[in-house]
Amino acid sequence: MHTILVTGGTGYIGSHTTVELVKSGYHVVIADNLSNSTIEVLDGIQNITGVKPQFEKLDLCDRKSVITLFEKFKIDAIIHFAALKAVGESMEIPLEYYHNNLESLINLLFATSKFNTKGFVFSSSCTVYGQPDILPVTENAPIKKSMSPYGNTKQIAEEIIQDTITANPSFKAISLRYFNPIGAHESALIGELPLGVPLNLVPFVTQTMAGVREKLLIFGNNYNTPDGTAIRDYINVSDLAKAHVVAVQRILENKNKNNYETFNLGTGKGVSVMEIIKSFEKITGKKINYEIVNRRPGDIEKVWADTSLANTELGWRAAISLEETLKSAWEWEKRIRNI
Ligand code: NAD
Ligand code: WQD
Repeated sequence: MHTILVTGGTGYIGSHTTVELVKSGYHVVIADNLSNSTIEVLDGIQNITGVKPQFEKLDLCDRKSVITLFEKFKIDAIIHFAALKAVGESMEIPLEYYHNNLESLINLLFATSKFNTKGFVFSSSCTVYGQPDILPVTENAPIKKSMSPYGNTKQIAEEIIQDTITANPSFKAISLRYFNPIGAHESALIGELPLGVPLNLVPFVTQTMAGVREKLLIFGNNYNTPDGTAIRDYINVSDLAKAHVVAVQRILENKNKNNYETFNLGTGKGVSVMEIIKSFEKITGKKINYEIVNRRPGDIEKVWADTSLANTELGWRAAISLEETLKSAWEWEKRIRNI
C-alpha cells in the first residue's frame, strides 16, 4: 500500500482528496497546522470512509518537523495543499504569504531529495493566467504578471518545482491549476469552512440564504459578458479531488510524459455570477437578497478552462453537474447551521 502525505489535508480541498485517496486504497498521512481548519474534519472523513487518517499537527515552515515527519513515515508521494489562500489578505501581509507558501514548499522539496520521495502533486491555480487573451485557456497560455502576492506564490512555486526537477531528474511533479472549486461532499459530512466573512462567491451566497449574511454584493454588472456579470469555471470539489488520485497514480506508475507536467482542472464551461444566483434560487426555491456594487479591484472579467489535456492525458473529466454541486453547497451550509 502506498503512503501519500497530504499537506493541508484537514482543509477544504485536502479533506475531499483524502476521502478519494482512502477510497482508492491509499494510506494517507495528513500534515496540517490547523491554521485554517479544524481537527473535527477527521471525524467527517472517518464517517465517510470508515478510516481515520493518520494526522500530524505541524507547521511545514519548520524544517525540523518536516524531517521528523519523513523519518516517521515512508512517504511515496506528496500532495501539497497547505497554503494561505486569501487574495486580498495577501496584499496586506505579503511577507506572511511568501514565507508560509514558499518556505513550506522548499522544506517539503528538501525532504523529497533527502528521503528519495518519488513524486509531488502541487495545488496551483488558474490565477497564474491572469485575464487570458484567448478563451478557453490552455496550459500553454502565457503566465501573466500576478495581481497579488498570493498569485505570485503560485507562479514562483511552479518555478521552484521545475528547478528542483532539473537538479534531480528522478523526481517527478505535477502542478494542477484549479479553476473555481465549489460545493461539498455528497454526504454533507465535509465541506468548506470559511473563517469569518467569506471572500468567495458560493459560500457568501449560501450564508446569505442561511440568514448569516444580510445580502450578497455582486461586484460589477458592466463586464463585457452576456449578462454583464463576471464569468468563471466552477468545478465540483469532489471531481477536483479525484483528479489528484489520478495524478498521484500517474507518477507512481511512471505514466507521466515529462518529469514536470501541468494540467488545468475545470469543467470547460464559463458561468456568470448572475447564473449562479439564478441556479441557487431555482434549487432552493428561495430568493437571494443582493445588490449590484462596483467591481472588486483585481477581479478579471472572464476565464474558463480548456480541459482537453486533463481529459486525454489524465483520463479525467468533471462529471458532477453545476446543479448537483450547488445543491451540495446548500446541504452543507444547512448542516453546519443546523437548519
Ligand atoms: P484551506 O485553507 O481550506 O486548506 C489549506 C490547509 O493548509 C488548511 O487546513 C491550513 O490549516 C493548512 N496550512 C496552511 N499553512 C500551513 C503550514 N505552514 N503548515 C501546515 N499546514 C498549513 O484551502 P483550500 O481551499 O483547501 O486550498 C488548498 C490549496 O489549493 C491551496 O494551496 C490553495 O492555494 C489552492 N487553491 C485553492 C483554490 C480555492 O478556491 N479554494 C483555488 C486554486 C488553488
Ligand atoms: C467569483 C466571482 C467575483 C464574492 C478566487 C481567487 C483565485 C482562486 C479562486 C485560489 C467574481 C464575484 C464574489 C461576492 C461577487 N483561488 N463575487 N460577490 O475571484 O474567481 O477567484 O478564488 O487560487 O485565485 O482569486 O473567486 O469566488 O471570489 O469570485 O460578486 O461576494 O464572484 O467578483 O466575479 P475568484 P470568487
